[in-house]
Amino acid sequence: MIIFKKVVDIQQYIKNKVDEGAQIGFVPTMGALHEGHISLICKAKQEARVVVTSIFVNPTQFNDKEDFEKYPVSIEQDMAMLIDADCDVLFIPSVSEMYPNGTDNMPAYDFGYLETVLEGTQRPGHFKGVGQVVARLLDIVNPHYLYMGQKDYQQCMVVGNLLKQLNSSIRMVICPTERDDDGLAMSSRNRRLTEPQRAIAGLLYQCLVSIQAKKDDGSFDIVKKECEDLLKAKGFNTEYISLADAETLELLNEYNNNRKMVALIAAKIGVIRLIDNLLLN
Ligand code: PAF
Repeated sequence: MIIFKKVVDIQQYIKNKVDEGAQIGFVPTMGALHEGHISLICKAKQEARVVVTSIFVNPTQFNDKEDFEKYPVSIEQDMAMLIDADCDVLFIPSVSEMYPNGTDNMPAYDFGYLETVLEGTQRPGHFKGVGQVVARLLDIVNPHYLYMGQKDYQQCMVVGNLLKQLNSSIRMVICPTERDDDGLAMSSRNRRLTEPQRAIAGLLYQCLVSIQAKKDDGSFDIVKKECEDLLKAKGFNTEYISLADAETLELLNEYNNNRKMVALIAAKIGVIRLIDNLLLN
Protein backbone atom coordinates (compact mmCIF):
# COMPACT_ATOMS: atom_id res chain seq x y z
CA MET A 1 0.00 0.00 0.00
CA ILE A 2 1.32 3.42 -0.92
CA ILE A 3 0.80 6.24 1.56
CA PHE A 4 0.43 9.86 0.47
CA LYS A 5 0.24 12.94 2.65
CA LYS A 6 0.49 15.61 -0.04
CA VAL A 7 -2.21 16.51 -2.53
CA VAL A 8 0.21 16.97 -5.45
CA ASP A 9 1.73 13.54 -4.91
CA ILE A 10 -1.52 11.57 -4.79
CA GLN A 11 -2.85 13.51 -7.78
CA GLN A 12 0.21 12.61 -9.84
CA TYR A 13 -0.08 8.94 -8.85
CA ILE A 14 -3.79 8.81 -9.71
CA LYS A 15 -3.23 10.59 -13.02
CA ASN A 16 -0.64 7.97 -13.99
CA LYS A 17 -2.96 5.12 -13.00
CA VAL A 18 -5.89 6.58 -14.95
CA ASP A 19 -3.61 7.11 -17.97
CA GLU A 20 -2.83 3.37 -17.75
CA GLY A 21 -6.59 2.70 -17.90
CA ALA A 22 -7.31 2.10 -14.20
CA GLN A 23 -10.68 2.77 -12.60
CA ILE A 24 -10.36 4.49 -9.24
CA GLY A 25 -12.58 3.49 -6.32
CA PHE A 26 -12.57 5.84 -3.33
CA VAL A 27 -13.45 5.13 0.31
CA PRO A 28 -13.38 8.31 2.42
CA THR A 29 -13.08 7.68 6.19
CA MET A 30 -12.18 9.36 9.44
CA GLY A 31 -10.11 6.37 10.52
CA ALA A 32 -10.69 4.15 13.58
CA LEU A 33 -11.50 1.57 10.95
CA HIS A 34 -13.78 -1.41 11.50
CA GLU A 35 -15.28 -4.20 9.38
CA GLY A 36 -17.84 -1.76 7.97
CA HIS A 37 -15.06 0.26 6.32
CA ILE A 38 -13.30 -2.90 5.21
CA SER A 39 -16.49 -4.12 3.51
CA LEU A 40 -16.42 -0.97 1.35
CA ILE A 41 -12.82 -1.65 0.37
CA CYS A 42 -13.64 -5.31 -0.43
CA LYS A 43 -16.56 -4.23 -2.60
CA ALA A 44 -14.32 -1.82 -4.51
CA LYS A 45 -11.64 -4.52 -4.91
CA GLN A 46 -14.23 -7.02 -6.23
CA GLU A 47 -15.14 -4.46 -8.86
CA ALA A 48 -11.45 -4.31 -9.84
CA ARG A 49 -10.85 -0.74 -8.84
CA VAL A 50 -7.59 0.77 -7.71
CA VAL A 51 -8.73 1.52 -4.18
CA VAL A 52 -7.89 4.78 -2.49
CA THR A 53 -8.84 5.20 1.17
CA SER A 54 -8.54 8.52 2.95
CA ILE A 55 -8.23 9.01 6.68
CA PHE A 56 -9.00 12.56 7.74
CA VAL A 57 -10.84 13.54 10.91
CA ASN A 58 -12.56 16.56 9.45
CA PRO A 59 -12.89 19.27 12.10
CA THR A 60 -15.57 21.20 10.20
CA GLN A 61 -18.21 18.49 10.47
CA PHE A 62 -18.20 18.20 14.27
CA ASN A 63 -20.75 20.36 16.00
CA ASP A 64 -19.69 18.94 19.38
CA LYS A 65 -16.17 19.85 20.50
CA GLU A 66 -15.87 16.86 22.84
CA ASP A 67 -16.94 14.45 20.09
CA PHE A 68 -14.13 15.83 17.90
CA GLU A 69 -11.52 15.78 20.63
CA LYS A 70 -12.41 12.25 21.71
CA TYR A 71 -12.87 10.85 18.21
CA PRO A 72 -10.90 7.58 18.28
CA VAL A 73 -7.58 7.57 16.46
CA SER A 74 -5.75 4.30 15.72
CA ILE A 75 -3.59 4.93 12.69
CA GLU A 76 -1.21 1.97 13.14
CA GLN A 77 -4.08 -0.49 13.50
CA ASP A 78 -5.90 1.19 10.59
CA MET A 79 -2.87 0.77 8.33
CA ALA A 80 -2.55 -2.91 9.25
CA MET A 81 -6.24 -3.46 8.43
CA LEU A 82 -5.91 -1.63 5.10
CA ILE A 83 -2.89 -3.71 4.11
CA ASP A 84 -4.81 -6.88 5.03
CA ALA A 85 -7.72 -5.72 2.88
CA ASP A 86 -5.33 -5.11 -0.02
CA CYS A 87 -6.06 -1.38 -0.19
CA ASP A 88 -3.82 0.20 -2.84
CA VAL A 89 -3.46 3.76 -1.62
CA LEU A 90 -3.89 5.53 1.71
CA PHE A 91 -4.25 9.31 1.74
CA ILE A 92 -3.67 10.93 5.15
CA PRO A 93 -3.65 14.69 4.67
CA SER A 94 -3.13 17.30 7.38
CA VAL A 95 -5.69 20.04 8.01
CA SER A 96 -3.47 22.57 6.21
CA GLU A 97 -3.12 20.27 3.21
CA MET A 98 -6.90 19.88 3.01
CA TYR A 99 -7.74 23.51 3.68
CA PRO A 100 -4.65 25.53 2.62
CA ASN A 101 -6.63 28.79 2.61
CA GLY A 102 -8.67 28.00 5.70
CA THR A 103 -12.26 26.83 5.60
CA ASP A 104 -13.99 30.21 5.37
CA ASN A 105 -13.28 30.60 1.68
CA MET A 106 -14.30 27.06 0.76
CA PRO A 107 -17.52 26.67 -1.21
CA ALA A 108 -20.50 26.01 1.06
CA TYR A 109 -23.16 23.70 -0.32
CA ASP A 110 -26.84 24.01 0.43
CA PHE A 111 -28.60 20.69 0.96
CA GLY A 112 -32.00 22.31 1.54
CA TYR A 113 -34.54 20.03 3.23
CA LEU A 114 -31.92 17.37 4.02
CA GLU A 115 -30.24 19.78 6.43
CA THR A 116 -33.48 20.51 8.27
CA VAL A 117 -34.45 17.04 9.53
CA LEU A 118 -33.06 14.28 11.76
CA GLU A 119 -29.23 14.56 11.79
CA GLY A 120 -29.56 18.02 10.24
CA THR A 121 -31.58 19.25 13.22
CA GLN A 122 -29.60 17.37 15.86
CA ARG A 123 -26.19 18.35 14.49
CA PRO A 124 -26.42 21.88 13.11
CA GLY A 125 -23.71 22.58 10.54
CA HIS A 126 -22.69 18.92 10.33
CA PHE A 127 -23.74 18.39 6.72
CA LYS A 128 -22.16 21.69 5.64
CA GLY A 129 -18.88 20.27 6.94
CA VAL A 130 -19.46 16.91 5.28
CA GLY A 131 -20.25 18.61 1.97
CA GLN A 132 -17.14 20.73 2.23
CA VAL A 133 -14.75 17.88 2.99
CA VAL A 134 -16.26 15.38 0.54
CA ALA A 135 -16.17 17.97 -2.28
CA ARG A 136 -12.52 18.68 -1.49
CA LEU A 137 -11.59 15.00 -1.33
CA LEU A 138 -13.38 14.25 -4.59
CA ASP A 139 -11.59 17.14 -6.22
CA ILE A 140 -8.25 15.69 -5.09
CA VAL A 141 -8.89 12.00 -5.78
CA ASN A 142 -11.23 12.40 -8.74
CA PRO A 143 -12.45 8.78 -8.51
CA HIS A 144 -14.76 6.94 -10.86
CA TYR A 145 -16.59 5.31 -7.95
CA LEU A 146 -17.29 6.48 -4.42
CA TYR A 147 -18.10 3.87 -1.76
CA MET A 148 -20.25 4.91 1.21
CA GLY A 149 -21.92 2.96 4.02
CA GLN A 150 -25.70 2.81 4.43
CA LYS A 151 -25.24 3.20 8.19
CA ASP A 152 -25.02 6.96 7.55
CA TYR A 153 -28.21 6.99 5.50
CA GLN A 154 -28.80 10.74 5.52
CA GLN A 155 -25.12 11.39 4.77
CA CYS A 156 -25.45 9.16 1.68
CA MET A 157 -28.39 11.29 0.55
CA VAL A 158 -26.44 14.49 1.18
CA VAL A 159 -23.46 13.18 -0.80
CA GLY A 160 -25.79 12.07 -3.62
CA ASN A 161 -27.17 15.60 -3.66
CA LEU A 162 -23.61 17.00 -3.65
CA LEU A 163 -22.69 14.91 -6.69
CA LYS A 164 -25.71 16.37 -8.50
CA GLN A 165 -24.75 19.92 -7.52
CA LEU A 166 -21.22 19.29 -8.76
CA ASN A 167 -22.63 17.84 -11.97
CA SER A 168 -20.33 14.93 -11.27
CA SER A 169 -20.11 11.66 -13.17
CA ILE A 170 -18.74 9.85 -10.09
CA ARG A 171 -20.92 6.85 -9.26
CA MET A 172 -21.80 6.41 -5.61
CA VAL A 173 -22.06 2.82 -4.39
CA ILE A 174 -23.92 2.45 -1.09
CA CYS A 175 -22.92 -0.69 0.82
CA PRO A 176 -25.03 -2.43 3.49
CA THR A 177 -24.42 -1.78 7.18
CA GLU A 178 -22.12 -4.28 8.87
CA ARG A 179 -23.37 -5.42 12.26
CA ASP A 180 -22.04 -7.14 15.37
CA ASP A 181 -23.77 -10.37 16.49
CA ASP A 182 -26.37 -8.50 18.54
CA GLY A 183 -27.19 -6.26 15.58
CA LEU A 184 -25.27 -3.17 16.72
CA ALA A 185 -24.22 -1.27 13.60
CA MET A 186 -20.44 -1.07 13.37
CA SER A 187 -19.20 2.42 14.08
CA SER A 188 -15.92 3.98 15.16
CA ARG A 189 -17.71 5.49 18.14
CA ASN A 190 -18.61 2.00 19.49
CA ARG A 191 -15.07 1.77 20.84
CA ARG A 192 -15.89 4.45 23.35
CA LEU A 193 -18.73 2.42 24.90
CA THR A 194 -18.09 0.97 28.33
CA GLU A 195 -18.80 -2.75 28.81
CA PRO A 196 -22.26 -2.22 30.36
CA GLN A 197 -23.12 0.34 27.65
CA ARG A 198 -21.98 -2.04 24.94
CA ALA A 199 -24.11 -4.81 26.47
CA ILE A 200 -27.32 -2.84 25.78
CA ALA A 201 -26.32 -1.00 22.59
CA GLY A 202 -27.85 -3.72 20.38
CA LEU A 203 -31.29 -2.53 21.52
CA LEU A 204 -31.22 0.20 18.89
CA TYR A 205 -31.23 -2.40 16.15
CA GLN A 206 -33.91 -4.41 17.96
CA CYS A 207 -36.11 -1.30 17.92
CA LEU A 208 -35.62 -0.96 14.16
CA VAL A 209 -36.47 -4.63 13.69
CA SER A 210 -39.68 -4.27 15.71
CA ILE A 211 -40.62 -1.20 13.66
CA GLN A 212 -40.11 -3.27 10.53
CA ALA A 213 -42.10 -6.22 11.91
CA LYS A 214 -45.21 -4.04 12.39
CA LYS A 215 -45.15 -2.39 8.99
CA ASP A 216 -48.02 -4.42 7.50
CA ASP A 217 -50.55 -4.42 10.30
CA GLY A 218 -49.28 -2.19 13.10
CA SER A 219 -49.31 1.46 14.05
CA PHE A 220 -46.01 3.32 13.84
CA ASP A 221 -47.05 5.61 16.69
CA ILE A 222 -47.57 2.68 19.04
CA VAL A 223 -44.37 0.83 18.18
CA LYS A 224 -42.41 4.09 18.38
CA LYS A 225 -43.76 4.72 21.89
CA GLU A 226 -42.87 1.15 22.92
CA CYS A 227 -39.31 1.66 21.65
CA GLU A 228 -38.99 5.04 23.38
CA ASP A 229 -40.17 3.54 26.68
CA LEU A 230 -37.82 0.56 26.38
CA LEU A 231 -34.81 2.73 25.57
CA LYS A 232 -35.64 5.15 28.38
CA ALA A 233 -35.96 2.29 30.88
CA LYS A 234 -32.49 1.08 29.86
CA GLY A 235 -30.97 4.54 30.32
CA PHE A 236 -30.74 5.73 26.69
CA ASN A 237 -31.43 9.33 25.81
CA THR A 238 -33.38 9.01 22.55
CA GLU A 239 -33.07 11.89 20.08
CA TYR A 240 -35.37 10.54 17.40
CA ILE A 241 -37.12 7.41 16.20
CA SER A 242 -38.50 8.30 12.79
CA LEU A 243 -40.13 6.82 9.76
CA ALA A 244 -39.35 8.41 6.41
CA ASP A 245 -39.71 8.00 2.69
CA ALA A 246 -36.50 6.22 1.75
CA GLU A 247 -36.03 8.23 -1.42
CA THR A 248 -36.76 11.76 -0.19
CA LEU A 249 -36.45 11.44 3.58
CA GLU A 250 -39.88 13.07 3.90
CA LEU A 251 -41.01 12.17 7.42
CA LEU A 252 -44.05 9.90 7.63
CA ASN A 253 -46.48 9.78 10.55
CA GLU A 254 -47.71 6.31 9.66
CA TYR A 255 -46.63 3.27 7.69
CA ASN A 256 -47.37 3.55 4.00
CA ASN A 257 -46.43 0.41 2.10
CA ASN A 258 -46.97 2.21 -1.20
CA ARG A 259 -43.76 4.05 -0.49
CA LYS A 260 -40.25 2.79 0.07
CA MET A 261 -39.74 3.37 3.80
CA VAL A 262 -36.75 3.70 6.09
CA ALA A 263 -36.76 3.77 9.89
CA LEU A 264 -34.04 5.90 11.48
CA ILE A 265 -32.93 6.14 15.07
CA ALA A 266 -30.48 8.26 17.08
CA ALA A 267 -29.84 7.87 20.78
CA LYS A 268 -27.15 8.56 23.32
CA ILE A 269 -25.81 6.09 25.84
CA GLY A 270 -23.97 8.27 28.32
CA VAL A 271 -22.06 10.71 26.12
CA ILE A 272 -21.83 8.36 23.13
CA ARG A 273 -24.24 9.14 20.33
CA LEU A 274 -25.25 6.25 18.09
CA ILE A 275 -27.33 6.25 14.90
CA ASP A 276 -28.79 3.46 12.83
CA ASN A 277 -31.43 2.83 10.18
CA LEU A 278 -33.27 0.01 8.43
CA LEU A 279 -34.99 -0.11 5.06
CA LEU A 280 -38.43 -1.54 5.75
CA ASN A 281 -39.65 -2.76 2.36
O1 PAF B 1 -18.64 9.07 7.30
C1 PAF B 1 -17.52 9.56 7.54
O2 PAF B 1 -16.60 8.90 8.03
C2 PAF B 1 -17.29 11.01 7.21
O3 PAF B 1 -18.44 11.78 7.41
C3 PAF B 1 -16.69 11.27 5.81
C4 PAF B 1 -17.66 10.84 4.73
C5 PAF B 1 -15.38 10.51 5.67
C6 PAF B 1 -16.39 12.75 5.63
O4 PAF B 1 -15.50 13.22 6.59
